[in-house]
Amino acid sequence: MAIRKISEYPEEVLGKVGKPVEKFDEELAALCEDMFETMYDAEGVGLAAPQIGLNLRLFVMDCEGIKLIAANPEIIETSGEQSGQEGCLSVGKVPAVVVRPMKAKLKAQNEKGEWFEREAEGYAARAFLHETDHCDGTLFIDHLPKMRREMLIKKFKKEKNWK
Ligand code: NI
Repeated sequence: MAIRKISEYPEEVLGKVGKPVEKFDEELAALCEDMFETMYDAEGVGLAAPQIGLNLRLFVMDCEGIKLIAANPEIIETSGEQSGQEGCLSVGKVPAVVVRPMKAKLKAQNEKGEWFEREAEGYAARAFLHETDHCDGTLFIDHLPKMRREMLIKKFKKEKNWK
């Protein structure tokens, strides 16, 4: 197991549509272990492959009792609406309020390639949506109005320079 380096905005890989996961082998299982370790080390609740520089449709999460590996994730149903704070390890965890559906149903494959569906609500649904977005090259800041997005990026860059 190893902690991987986290890609940060505006690295190109974060804006790319990921390639499908095709091989469900030991290498993938080891990659997922690294992703969990990297996520826990950074105190995140989800981490997608593009965030460690890999152009792949894959994420891991451990959020409100839902711990899973999702390869080739799709959001197949959403309902309701919630407004709440969201942050991202690739944007220095600078938070912003993002409006998202209240419930989301995820369809994905586990590390063995088996398809599953899982429903979540509230913060965990937000994690499903945020991480699936990463696999499509979308960041949470892309959901913000232009002015708020620019302010957040400014804040992120400022904090980065202080480190
Ligand atoms: Ni993120």
